[in-house]
Amino acid sequence: MSRPKKLKLEEEKTEKRGRKARKEISTVTGMRDILPQDQKYWEAVRRSAGKAAVDYGYGRVDTPILEFSELFARGVGRQTDIVEKEMFTFIDQGGDNLSLRPEATASAARAYIQHGMLNQPQPVKFFYLGPMFRHEKPQAGRQRQFWQYGFEAIGEINPALDAQLILIGFNTLNNLGIESSIQINSIGCPDCREIYKKELIKYYKAKAKLLCENCRVRLVKNPLRLLDCKEEGCKNLRDNAPQILDFLDEECKKHFMKVVEYLDDLDLPYVLNPYLVRGLDYYSRTTFEYWAIDDSEGKNALGGGGRYDELVKMLGGREDAPACGLAMGMDRIVAKLREKEIEVPEYGASEVFVAQLGEAAKKKAMALYEKLLQGDFKLAQAFYKDNLKAQLELANKLKVKFTLIIGQKEVGEGTVLIRDMEGGIQEVVDMGKVENELKKRLEKSRQPVVPIIVENPEIPLPKKRLKKEDFIDSLEEDEGGEKLGQIDAFEE
Ligand code: HAM
Repeated sequence: MSRPKKLKLEEEKTEKRGRKARKEISTVTGMRDILPQDQKYWEAVRRSAGKAAVDYGYGRVDTPILEFSELFARGVGRQTDIVEKEMFTFIDQGGDNLSLRPEATASAARAYIQHGMLNQPQPVKFFYLGPMFRHEKPQAGRQRQFWQYGFEAIGEINPALDAQLILIGFNTLNNLGIESSIQINSIGCPDCREIYKKELIKYYKAKAKLLCENCRVRLVKNPLRLLDCKEEGCKNLRDNAPQILDFLDEECKKHFMKVVEYLDDLDLPYVLNPYLVRGLDYYSRTTFEYWAIDDSEGKNALGGGGRYDELVKMLGGREDAPACGLAMGMDRIVAKLREKEIEVPEYGASEVFVAQLGEAAKKKAMALYEKLLQGDFKLAQAFYKDNLKAQLELANKLKVKFTLIIGQKEVGEGTVLIRDMEGGIQEVVDMGKVENELKKRLEKSRQPVVPIIVENPEIPLPKKRLKKEDFIDSLEEDEGGEKLGQIDAFEE
């Protein structure tokens, strides 16, 4: 059971006071360290995103973390929560008004304009990955510094692009083993949206008293946002509100129907969600989000995106450059991997430890380490330790497969001891042959184990030796619940 909230708050206060008294400096509220032991999750997410970038031809772009505040005011929108309340903004020594980027789409569009990319084959496709900053109330799934990866394709209006981007974001989650649903909507072009907004205001004005405080402000400033309020009262009112899809003009409707058609053909699990309006002003037509399968209200969307056909123009681009993109929240994805206990590969795990005993051996070991680094070995060492036992303990802790040991005797004989950490067997190898020996042993240790099927007298065995997959398949096929054989041993 969780501790009472009051007690927890008290504890936090005491800890803070303690820290203050000791003058300890900690991270800024809402920002955190990602420690080495957590990196395997982050690396898995980075890999999944990076692979998608290569698979679909998105070139990496790294834009500055600081931009002129005006970029986000014009791009994301002055009336949005992000620009109004959440930006880390300051005037620098030169008098420039700068902000830490709260997102990267505006920066991507700025880069597209600034580097004259209109003259390149369209669309220009960007991939990015990095920290974003929003001064929000920190809570689970909401940090002030958080990480996103994203894909932006600028200079193309074809709905196949929207569908492919939706697929890309979905795949990056799916490949990690995270189940999600795609929420999708169209908020039309500025023309049809204007008509819709008027209808929406008409509907809500009559019910203004029933709205939450925030929504009363939204009614005046940003009526579309009334639709994604999470307050119960506002959600009830929403049920009878006019729906944007009924107000789309012919072109917008055609575009949306095509996107949905492609998603159908791709067999993607989408949900038409007429309330998905998103919190950034640059969107037009398609909007979408990815919700974890167990997040029915989208309180912690794993990612989102949409079309932004007007943005390049809004930022001063000379010509129209219709565009579409998405960004995924890496902190939330990592949290989901942990919550679901999804296995990810160890990151930076070592396979071979190089240990030494004695000054001369230390020098030999250091040189050997450098030589092995030129090969494709994942190495570890503790040359600053003199005690062999302490080194072997560390090697054990790191779960390496082999430890190379050099002592006085080995130095004299020009040899190295190879210790198999699992079996505990040690063998002497010539220093000149150690690289090849190690390669052979590592390769062997990486080979998958395959079960051998032992004959069951009542059921004849097939002639060929079964592989593990065959064995499992055959078990599933066997309706009578009888096994074809039993696993007796694993093939070396
Ligand atoms: P966004 O919906 O504001 O869209 O952010 C995308 C994702 O970033 C969210 O779904 C969420 O997972 C994560 N995220 C946002 N704020 C936080 C936070 N405070 N803490 C943790 N995670 C957060 C955009 O940023 C658009 N630029 C997406 C886009 C790209 N549209 C077109 N292209």
